[in-house]
Amino acid sequence: MSEALGTLEELPEDYRAGMAAAGVAPLWPMMRNVLPHGAPNPATRPGHWRYGDVRPLLLRAGELTPVEKAERRVLVLSDPGRGAGAMQATATIYLGLQLLLPGETAPAHRHTPSAVRVLVEGQGGFTIVDGEKLPMEEGDLILTPGGEWHDHGHEGSDPVVWLDALDLPLFVMLEGSYAEEGDLQAHRNRPDASQVEYRAAGLAPTRGPERARPRYPQNRYPWTRTRAALDEMAAATDAALAELDYINPETGEDVLPTMGFTAMRLAPGTAHRPPKRSASAAFHVVAGTGRTTVDGKTIDWGPKDTFTAPVFAEIDHHAHDTAYLIRIHDRPLQEKLGYYEERPR
Ligand SMILES: [Fe+2]
Repeated sequence: MSEALGTLEELPEDYRAGMAAAGVAPLWPMMRNVLPHGAPNPATRPGHWRYGDVRPLLLRAGELTPVEKAERRVLVLSDPGRGAGAMQATATIYLGLQLLLPGETAPAHRHTPSAVRVLVEGQGGFTIVDGEKLPMEEGDLILTPGGEWHDHGHEGSDPVVWLDALDLPLFVMLEGSYAEEGDLQAHRNRPDASQVEYRAAGLAPTRGPERARPRYPQNRYPWTRTRAALDEMAAATDAALAELDYINPETGEDVLPTMGFTAMRLAPGTAHRPPKRSASAAFHVVAGTGRTTVDGKTIDWGPKDTFTAPVFAEIDHHAHDTAYLIRIHDRPLQEKLGYYEERPR
């Protein structure tokens, strides 16, 4: 081990004043802050948002603020490590719960960050992405990739709530985050691609020189199919966990450039201890109850709750009954940067 590094306080006053005047700073007192030994030192802390706590606040926002004055009526899930008001849940992942009331619309826009929605509650909500109308049923994963026009509407009779996940903090850090506004989109009069071109896993429209593969071929992943696939996988194994990644059906790659999504089925009464992953994660509970410890914090979760884990977290899951979770993570980004890693426990 090297000796302790010098501190700012050890340096003479006049030298410190000279550095400040010249617009420079010494690296060595900050060296371990920016390059800690062995593993990162995350600011992110485990968070847990009970749906029962947030839902009344969200519904009250529906009374207090008309959607016209909100554009998107969202309560952001703030990372406890960064404190109240933080516009992020982990270093790279923004999470928000969004409310749309019957008859309301959220105007069309497009932006550099990518987003997904996981429908939490309500029927009749829809998202239009680049002219394709995507119905939103409970647990569905809906993509609105960066640069694609999207707006939302609601044809049902009860409030619709979904969880938004965006790579917004990354784009803010890159100074690359901005949006353009547009008019509500007319949608094509046909079912979305999950019901036409990508009806069944392992099948895709015929390839050929005349047909360019779309970058984002499928923007809706119906939960009923995901759940059935998890159940069939679980029935064929005795593992505590069945896990499936959401992929682009044309390429097999993750569905978005920086964020990944993994559907999990935890068997009741068994423990699951994943490796320590370099990716940060958010877990959204579609169904079931259980207890998870994240870096020593005990989280007793139920349906529609969301909780988070920092990078390299020690995570232990224990489901009380059959539980279904969607894990939102930044593995795709880390793989592109060449440093994604899993460490055994
Ligand atoms: Fe958006």
